[in-house]
Amino acid sequence: MKSIIQIKNLTKKYKIEGREIRALNNINLEINGGSFTTIVGKSGCGKSTFLRIIAGLETATSGQIFGTNKIKSSLVFQEARLMPWLTVEENILFPLKNKKKNKIQPKVEEKLQLLGLKEFKDAYPDQISGGMAQRTALGRALIFESDLILMDEPLGSLDAFNRYKLQEELKNIFSENDKTVIFVTHDIDEAIFLGDQVLVMDSGAIIEQFNLKKELNLLKDKEKYLELKEEILSELKA
Ligand SMILES: Nc1ncnc2c1ncn2[C@@H]1O[C@H](COP(=O)(O)OP(=O)(O)OP(=O)(O)O)[C@@H](O)[C@H]1O
Ligand SMILES: [Mg+2]
Repeated sequence: MKSIIQIKNLTKKYKIEGREIRALNNINLEINGGSFTTIVGKSGCGKSTFLRIIAGLETATSGQIFGTNKIKSSLVFQEARLMPWLTVEENILFPLKNKKKNKIQPKVEEKLQLLGLKEFKDAYPDQISGGMAQRTALGRALIFESDLILMDEPLGSLDAFNRYKLQEELKNIFSENDKTVIFVTHDIDEAIFLGDQVLVMDSGAIIEQFNLKKELNLLKDKEKYLELKEEILSELKA
């Protein structure tokens, strides 16, 4: 498949009280159109910084990203960031606020159903749980039909049951369309389940890249699965 995003020598430095932090350290990466890339890595290794820079919300200190200026992208933040004066339904609809209501109503119904938010569609963000808020944020990203969807631990605040359910749904949604997804998670099983490729990050660098597309039977082959999981885990511990 064609690579749509090329990242070259990407570095991001922050200064905190005179001390320099390299949040990203010379990242080189190509992302194929239509692929689902998952990123795992310890807290503070630079995952959110990486997504924010790809989304164009922050600038890199040096290096380049090619391909993102021609496509629409959306970012699901680590925290929900809803607009408190809008209901759940209105928050989901927000990116489409200029479109005709009768055209988008079926879409919003579908997202509310998918995310289990139908009963709460008229509630305001301060009346719903953290998990519901996160699902609302997910709905808002899914309804805006962008080519590139960046997700920063979008399932982090969900209970185990909803988390599994949404993992299945995300897999279904994105295996059917040609959208490109970059998905950050702390959960190695989630990364393997969803990813065509899994990237392991450490101290601002991509230290390992596992291509899972080649191993389609991975999920059925328990031994192979555990082997891969162990390998990712040992990369994270190293
Ligand atoms: N706006 C900022 N100003 C200064 N330092 C920052 C800023 N944002 C991030 N950093 C630093 O950059 C490093 C990477 O942070 P980042 O939020 O990207 O990590 P992360 O991998 O997303 O962590 P987590 O898993 O906890 O969300 C950290 O050392 C952090 O302190
Ligand atoms: Mg983060």
